[in-house]
Amino acid sequence: MRILLKNAQLVDPQIKLDQIADVLIEDGTIKKIGKSISEKVDHDFDLKGKIITPGFVDAHVHLREPGREDEETIETGTASAAAGGFTAVCCMPNTKPSIDSAEVVTFIKEKATGLLVNVHPIGAVTKKREGTELAYLGEMAEAGVVGLSDDGVAVSNSQILKYALEYSSMFNLPIIEHCEDSSLTKDGVMNEGINSTRFGLPPHPSLAEDLIAARDVAVLEYSGGRLHLAHISTKATVEILRDAKKRGLNVTGEVTPHHFTLTDDFVKDYDTNTKVNPPLRTQSDIDAIIDGLKDRTIDLIASDHAPHSIEEKEWEYIYAPFGIIGLETSVGLTLTRLYHTKILSLDEIILKMSINPRKIFRLPEAKIEIGQKANLTILDLNENWAVDKFNFKSKSINTPFHGWELKGKAIGVINNRRMYFDGKEISI
Ligand code: DOR
Repeated sequence: MRILLKNAQLVDPQIKLDQIADVLIEDGTIKKIGKSISEKVDHDFDLKGKIITPGFVDAHVHLREPGREDEETIETGTASAAAGGFTAVCCMPNTKPSIDSAEVVTFIKEKATGLLVNVHPIGAVTKKREGTELAYLGEMAEAGVVGLSDDGVAVSNSQILKYALEYSSMFNLPIIEHCEDSSLTKDGVMNEGINSTRFGLPPHPSLAEDLIAARDVAVLEYSGGRLHLAHISTKATVEILRDAKKRGLNVTGEVTPHHFTLTDDFVKDYDTNTKVNPPLRTQSDIDAIIDGLKDRTIDLIASDHAPHSIEEKEWEYIYAPFGIIGLETSVGLTLTRLYHTKILSLDEIILKMSINPRKIFRLPEAKIEIGQKANLTILDLNENWAVDKFNFKSKSINTPFHGWELKGKAIGVINNRRMYFDGKEISI
């Protein structure tokens, strides 16, 4: 099977590639790159004005399978990822049962076999994510996890965190920390500040994030290993990460599109699709996050795609679960908020959505080079579109961005000899 992608702008900062050319893909491998390739092919696509990049990765996704297949499954979550422009996702272990054994890791990998989107499970740090006993890290490493996390909660016990950093370094796996000191956030549902007082909602202070980030960096410095700070939302945590990197520590960090786009002002209508953990913060936090993205303190952008049922999201604000979906809005928000505002160049966005997550989680490289497996994302940087949650491939619709006008979109992906384009998936 041969397909030809014509007239696209190929952009791959890893090999300093930025040129308009055709790409011939044969049986899933890049065979030729050049001007005006004329070969007999099974399908051709005119991509004039469009961009081809190495396949994007969303390194922080909740797929809900096993356990909450009413909210998302591996199949619907990966379909949502493909529609959003991703060829790989890392899935978090707060499933039911949680991903804390080789069996669950293998179950997920088997379910994902043959799909366009690669699924890389993250194992739990502690058994059942309960924080009291280390999970079987070695056996999960062997089964193929790409990181370890109790996401949803922090590893609150410092001794366990120390052991986890020491033990995981034997497998070169990062500990992905959800930074939250739960003694400060009990019952809290939104950022502590003038708005929580105004709206009469229980506070969830930024201090909770900053304390755990600072503690984790101190433990990392003492015991070694690799630390990755998930969904950074505060100014102080950006500063903690910047300082730790300056001191040469093995630490990285991520931010979500909602945390660089929305402030806690959006909670004013009590729409539970503004209830996320960590909570939406203030403009000064967003400004610090933007600085952190610009100076590469923050390594990657990930959605924290967190599907929840309509019924549960319709509970009152204080009872509704934390989380919003993000796979199908992440690229659009990033291009709208960061690229078209000239905060980040396209190269920097590719770094943060493909190259860095692949490096940090040691996923297979994706490069636009002859002989490489075709693992590609196709972007239209200038398409104006309105978010329509009823068109999502995800099983859930809990997004605060319904109806938002965005500029820039992922319009296709290619991976594993499959191509998603124009709303359809085909074998190639
Ligand atoms: O908003 C969130 N939702 N934050 C988390 O840490 C967990 C996630 C979920 O699983 O719903």
